[in-house]
Amino acid sequence: MDLVDPFGRTIRDLRISVTDRCNFRCTYCMPEEGMKWLPRSDVLSFEEMERLARMFVERFEVDGLRLTGGEPTVRAHLPVLVRKLAELRVPAGSSSPLAGQKPDISITTNGSSFRLLAGELRDAGLDRVNISLDTLQQEKFLQMTRRDELVRVLDGIEAAKEAGFSPVKINAVIERGVNDDEILALATFGRERDVEVRFIEFMPLDASGHWMSDTVVTQDEIVAMIGAVYPIEQVPARGAAPADRWRYLDGAGMIGIIPTISRPFCGDCDRVRLTADGQFRTCLFATDEFDLLTMMRRGANDDTVAAEIQRAVGTKWAGHQINQVTFTRPVRSMSQIGG
Ligand code: GTP
Ligand code: 5AD
Ligand code: SF4
Repeated sequence: MDLVDPFGRTIRDLRISVTDRCNFRCTYCMPEEGMKWLPRSDVLSFEEMERLARMFVERFEVDGLRLTGGEPTVRAHLPVLVRKLAELRVPAGSSSPLAGQKPDISITTNGSSFRLLAGELRDAGLDRVNISLDTLQQEKFLQMTRRDELVRVLDGIEAAKEAGFSPVKINAVIERGVNDDEILALATFGRERDVEVRFIEFMPLDASGHWMSDTVVTQDEIVAMIGAVYPIEQVPARGAAPADRWRYLDGAGMIGIIPTISRPFCGDCDRVRLTADGQFRTCLFATDEFDLLTMMRRGANDDTVAAEIQRAVGTKWAGHQINQVTFTRPVRSMSQIGG
């Protein structure tokens, strides 16, 4: 049975945050110190995640599962979870292109440990990987992530390619006055390394609350900067994905831009989220959460949990209100929500 929201959007994608912890402290996400971690007992076990993922895939015909964090690879034994998820099957009668097959399983990671995990994750059934990289300069990397790990992240990207992941996508959050001078360098990196760089408009989900609308570098600005040096053309039909895409006319690959602020794509959204502590969210910017963890731990059966999921999806709003005065930031920030 499809999960359909009040605006007629069918939910196909579940993002599961496996931990709120992270080995980096990116300024657009976390404070330098003082982040309060969830107590371990409040974090979903792999069995609980698998149970919920099974409901989404087998009951509600969700065909994409993305593991996020915090940093997902800091959770021990991640390949064990991936292996369990890879055993799920989208129902044969579903209208999904993956009907009868395993769901698409992907991860969004900072890449610093990917050299150690790439092969094991691939063997476990991971299909795709997106790696964050906001700068190619060591000093700026240290400034933006508060960790001196640029070399390890670059190596993580190579490891992802060597393990056979394709495409490997790079996520670069662009903040005006911080790394907007590197847009072209990042584009060039993508062309040379054969990875798809996606430029992300900075969103008001930073723990420090320094986001302001003029810190956002817009999609139009990014396209103009890159297009002035490398001719590009937009690829139509993005579907439900957040990224608009362009191809280099000389055949050197693609770029993406995730234009949350300047061109919201909420109308096509097919995503819902599960936080590490088992709270179900129908939008990155939702102010309500639905407590599936407590429900499950009190012994609710699958039908009861499924009914709660349907009730929650019934509250999914048309879209975020970032550009309006009525916008209120969610109480939790990016690493606690799951990106
Ligand atoms: P693909 O399946 O490869 O297209 O991945 P993705 O772009 O959906 O996921 P990824 O985790 O790489 O996210 C890239 C950026 O898009 C991050 O900054 C996410 O926070 C953002 N993003 C993901 N889903 C949403 C969404 O529903 N709304 C908004 N505004 N941003 C989102
Ligand atoms: N705005 C936009 N993207 C963000 N990310 C983290 N914080 C923000 C923010 N405030 C990105 C990370 C990662 C993904 C999960 O979300 O860079 O690629
Ligand atoms: Fe960690 Fe990702 Fe947040 Fe950076 S954006 S601090 S890598 S969770």
